[in-house]
Amino acid sequence: MPSIVETAASADIDPPAFPPSDEFAASANASAELYDEAERDRLAFWDKQARRLAWETPFGEVLDWSEAPFAKWFVGGKLNVAYNCVDRHVEAGNGDRVAIHWEGEPVGDQRTITYAELKDEVSQAANALTDLGLVAGDRVAIYMPMVPEAIVAMLACARLGVMHSVVFAGFSASALRARVEDAEAKLVITTDGQYRRGKAASLKEAVDEAVKDQECVEHVLVVRRTGIDTAMTEGRDVWWDEVVPKASTDHTPEAFDAEHPLFLLYTSGTTGKPKGIMHTTGGYLTQSSYTHFNVFDVKPETDVYWCTADIGWVTGHTYIVYGPLSNGVTQVVYEGTPTSPTEHRHFEVIEKYGVTIYYTAPTLIRTFMKLGRQIAAEHDLSSLRLLGSVGEPINPEAWRWYRTVFGADKTPIVDTWWQTETGSIMISPLPGVTDAKPGSAMTPLPGISAVIVDDDGKQLEPGTDHGEQANGYLVLDKPWPSMLRGIWGDPERFKETYWSRFAEQGWYFAGDGARYGADGEIWVLGRIDDVMNISGHRISTAEVESALVGHSGVAEAAVVGASDEQTGQAICAFVILKASAKADDANMVEELRAEVAKEISPIAKPREIHVVPELPKTRSGKIMRRLLRDVAEGRELGDTSTLVDPSVFEAIRASK
Ligand code: WTA
Repeated sequence: MPSIVETAASADIDPPAFPPSDEFAASANASAELYDEAERDRLAFWDKQARRLAWETPFGEVLDWSEAPFAKWFVGGKLNVAYNCVDRHVEAGNGDRVAIHWEGEPVGDQRTITYAELKDEVSQAANALTDLGLVAGDRVAIYMPMVPEAIVAMLACARLGVMHSVVFAGFSASALRARVEDAEAKLVITTDGQYRRGKAASLKEAVDEAVKDQECVEHVLVVRRTGIDTAMTEGRDVWWDEVVPKASTDHTPEAFDAEHPLFLLYTSGTTGKPKGIMHTTGGYLTQSSYTHFNVFDVKPETDVYWCTADIGWVTGHTYIVYGPLSNGVTQVVYEGTPTSPTEHRHFEVIEKYGVTIYYTAPTLIRTFMKLGRQIAAEHDLSSLRLLGSVGEPINPEAWRWYRTVFGADKTPIVDTWWQTETGSIMISPLPGVTDAKPGSAMTPLPGISAVIVDDDGKQLEPGTDHGEQANGYLVLDKPWPSMLRGIWGDPERFKETYWSRFAEQGWYFAGDGARYGADGEIWVLGRIDDVMNISGHRISTAEVESALVGHSGVAEAAVVGASDEQTGQAICAFVILKASAKADDANMVEELRAEVAKEISPIAKPREIHVVPELPKTRSGKIMRRLLRDVAEGRELGDTSTLVDPSVFEAIRASK
């Protein structure tokens, strides 16, 4: 693993803080008392937060950490997640409240779904899944664009205690195949096709390829979205509209143990094989709901919340499905790309629905910045009262632009740090309570503990002079309710990946570099392992390398993430071709980019591929990615003394 001094990004000079306005503070959900309460008794604090949910059987012990790092939260308690997200609000008399304003990519395509309607549809889907033979503990892969049925499908699984594994619909057939296989999914739920910038493209074809000869898959359930020609396999494939609407709207939810598995979500690690991150029921829902309520300050009666993520990523799970719905809010769900059919689309959606809370990624903010503020200026964005950011460090310039152009220079911004593994937000300002500095996620939320430590696990001094402050590792030194419970089928990898770096102290190693600012706030600097962050998407160098060497012309490949103004990082690949392939270099690069798109996803296509005669290696044969990053970013080379052959760089530079 590279040492922390190699961390690519570095924080801006200490910028002035934005304190909360009195007006916002006066009606904020959170108050400073939350910090005190959690500080006084952390477990009592979580006990209270868990009680915001409806439990069928009350829990006993708040946390059992005796088998660390395998946590048990809210021991013995039983609840149903879908009941908490849907039925509970209907029973409380809020059935007529809009749960989802769905906006399709084709203009004019829209649907409004109230909580009562959502309850009926989730119940019908749960009955249909039961008819297809699913029982608690089974796995279902969901490979769908952002249509309401995707959310219904997730909730129907949760209702039955069936684990969903949502696979981003931008992933290729082989990426889906690997995930279906690993989870041994019994059912795949998909759509006939999806809209991409106004054009309908098949999705079902990829499913057919992915499930071919996979014995575990008994059925494929297909939502009709685009109406394009779709081949159906007799006996295996079932149209959603032929079974779900016919099913009964009566369904009694069963309560499951707090530690019953809720879902799997695959994410990139430092090897080529994606990890199935496992989340469970009680702790996950408690922290999702608590963070959504306090960080986004939601007022269910009046707010219109919009999180622009895709359900294929953890942000979509926690802050489109479980957080907002458990709090009974009204939200916008948008199907398409932000700039389709024109770059006005996102602003039109905000205006149309009167969006009050908007949660997006820095890469999108930078896209809007590039398009220019005159586009935003043509729209009435005055409904916005809170903005959020997630996925990568937000550069202070983008933060300020976001606040000025979206937020009329007055809305608070919450820069939220968390991971697929943490399940929900861990580090963020609390609007109306804490200051915010552009570019910093600030401090751990009440109930959460995070520290920055050096190589030996010694905590860096918070609040020392910024200029002299060294970079360190971000660790979570106390368990939290929505923490991952493991990696599917691989407990050893779970321990090794997250708990071995600081095993002695029993800390969770997040894989991010960080430093303290002058006021003790946390500046997350980015990944320090071999995980890249491309537009907020996690992709490992090993995954792309293995796709490249999968091509018959490639002998060896090394991949690095180089900084990129637009996407945060961009993928740069260095490949050595086999003698037989060398003749045709020019086409080869395009072929290789296509190979990566096919093996993983178009989002993983390298920005650059350099055909090189050799790769820089240490005597033990390890590729020195740090030096390749220097090359990719056009920097002076760092220390080359451990290389077998330092002159290899002349050849590499010559081929750039
Ligand atoms: C990065 C996304 C800085 C970080 C929720 C982390 C961030 C990885 C921030 C997790 C932020 C996420 N500031 N960096 N506010 N939010 N990251 O699993 O490197 O897709 O480890 O979860 O994104 O990515 P993941």
